Amino acid sequence: MKSLNKRIYLSPPHMTGNEQEYINKAFSSNWIAPLGPNVDQFEANLADYVKVNNALAVSSGTAAIHLALRLLNVKKGDVIFCSTLTFVASANPILYEGATPVFIDAEFETWNMCPVSLEKALQNAAKDGPLPKAVIVVNLYGQTAKMDEIIRVCHEFGVPIIEDAAESLGAEYRGKKSGSFGDFGIFSFNGNKIITTSGGGMLVTNNKEDIEQARFLSTQARDKAAHYQHSEMGFNYKLSNILAGIGIAQLQAIEERVEKKREIFFRYEEELGSLDGITFMKEYRDSRHNRWLTTLMIDQAKTSTTPLKLIEALEKENIEARRVWKPLHLQPLFNEAPIFQVHEGSSVAERLFENGLCLPSGTNMTKEEQYHVINTIKKVILKQKECSTNPLVV
Ligand SMILES: Cc1ncc(COP(=O)(O)O)c(C=O)c1O
Repeated sequence: MKSLNKRIYLSPPHMTGNEQEYINKAFSSNWIAPLGPNVDQFEANLADYVKVNNALAVSSGTAAIHLALRLLNVKKGDVIFCSTLTFVASANPILYEGATPVFIDAEFETWNMCPVSLEKALQNAAKDGPLPKAVIVVNLYGQTAKMDEIIRVCHEFGVPIIEDAAESLGAEYRGKKSGSFGDFGIFSFNGNKIITTSGGGMLVTNNKEDIEQARFLSTQARDKAAHYQHSEMGFNYKLSNILAGIGIAQLQAIEERVEKKREIFFRYEEELGSLDGITFMKEYRDSRHNRWLTTLMIDQAKTSTTPLKLIEALEKENIEARRVWKPLHLQPLFNEAPIFQVHEGSSVAERLFENGLCLPSGTNMTKEEQYHVINTIKKVILKQKECSTNPLVV
């Protein structure tokens, strides 16, 4: 097999070529600031795309989650429920506020928060108290969680939802855009996301007062006065006008990017899906997965291999692959936090972590590069199979 010199990354930035135009505009008008026409346009365009009333561009997705928690008046000692199968950034803002995370297990159909476990946790909280101040629901790897069920359960207990759509811009659920289901939605434009501003995020909500309060908090909470006056603690979370310019051009390409990501997924599925012991993350019914990262499960008994062995084999070929997020309830940072799951001692998130693998899914990856990934995986799995079935091969 021919080795390609260029490293194949998991999800590198993919510029459209139009970004420079908006960056130049910022320079020529001297809007080198964390506000300006690019920021306004980026916010308006994203709100229009996601079909929400208001959007606030911020310095990161994490900052957007933090602001949502502030808007919900989360204080020290409050409880926040959060998906356990996610990147740590979903839950870190809970700690910023001195609140207590409680984690909710995943389910196999979407890999996202299990509505049955959520209901169990809410019933338990309603009985023994306290109810959470918010539920942070993550749409993992570009797949929207079972929002109908999650919304129904949260409404029943009167608990607001923060929808972490950092990875799922462009995904849809029952015809509506991911990120538009929660009381608050957040997006990330970190360098590896489906569109990027190199670093940045967005908070969205249909509530105008909330977005105005978030804008106030994100700019050091400056009171309306003729001098610099502050009655409340604020943050410096605004997105730069230069980076927002990158975002405008990137957002124009979102549909193309989703299509390309999906095409990459279908090629992987077609080439590897028939291998015994490989199962791809399915697309949930009535939804459109943005396939930010193609992810799969490896049956270690059937394939005689492990995610780690595959990652090592791919690394030898200069290909980046990654394990599925380690569930947050297993992280030393959260070792005190409880986990709610359907069956005690049997966590779906743990099984996804133990057997899951994320494959390179960059929209600028060539077909040749993708076949290099595919062939490397095939070689490992077919060789392992041969070794395990043929006693003469060791
Ligand atoms: C699920 C999830 N939530 C939150 C974040 C945080 O976004 P950011 O890196 O922009 O702070 C990320 C990505 O980085 C993420 O993958």
